[in-house]
Amino acid sequence: MIAIKSEHELVLMRQACKITAAARALAGDMVRPGVSTKQINKAVHDFIVGQDAKPSFLHYNGYPASVCISVNETVIHGIPGDYVLREGDIVSIDVGANYQGFHGDCAATFACGAISTEAKKLIDVTKRSFFEGIRFATHGHRVSDISHAIQTYVESNGFGIVRSFVGHGVGAQLHEEPEVPNFGAPGRGPRLLPGMTIAVEPMVTAGTYEVKVLPDRWTTVTADGALAAHYENTVLITDGEPEILTVYEGL
Ligand code: MF3
Ligand code: CO
Repeated sequence: MIAIKSEHELVLMRQACKITAAARALAGDMVRPGVSTKQINKAVHDFIVGQDAKPSFLHYNGYPASVCISVNETVIHGIPGDYVLREGDIVSIDVGANYQGFHGDCAATFACGAISTEAKKLIDVTKRSFFEGIRFATHGHRVSDISHAIQTYVESNGFGIVRSFVGHGVGAQLHEEPEVPNFGAPGRGPRLLPGMTIAVEPMVTAGTYEVKVLPDRWTTVTADGALAAHYENTVLITDGEPEILTVYEGL
């Protein structure tokens, strides 16, 4: 069963998503050489708590931090720690916040100082692939119409699209139905209806799409060591255009 959010639930979802997007922006603004990933984690944690919300990721399935910070070849689920950002790093920051029982979830990859042309293209293509995908996040399309559009765009730009992690419904649970893969044939999966809220999150590599999970059981890196980028928003299906809920409008 895919939850259709009521108007009241959407009020809470919107607020959760606003806080989440503001937290992503705050984290992105901190990305510069000399800043440690745990400093960013602490600032985001304190911000979310200060908004009367809870960091959705903290202790989720045992995850030990409030933010995922994934540098260079790390694709997702990088655990903040003592690592100090360096000029040229690309830094994927994934944040979730729970406001009165509803979650927002979003991510983006940020440049640390000057980065390579290839890295810049990777970040741009990843973000654009999200927008290609959500052209199909409309009433009556099926989930894999989004998946197919993302895969086509990413691969036509010569990059790899990760398959072993997927987007997802989001709401009262951080992860709910449906799964939203970033690859596959169109016309499959559930039909999208107004009131569904989904996290669309392409994870893109500058090499092959294979990834591996490190012994800490979280940190997920490209198998070939190539750079990776991530872009995610929580999106509401409506009667018309999809609405991106994780937009930062100031709080
Ligand atoms: N945005 C990620 C996701 O949708 C973050 C989950 S990290 C976890 O799955 F720690 F919470 F698992
Ligand atoms: Co997500």
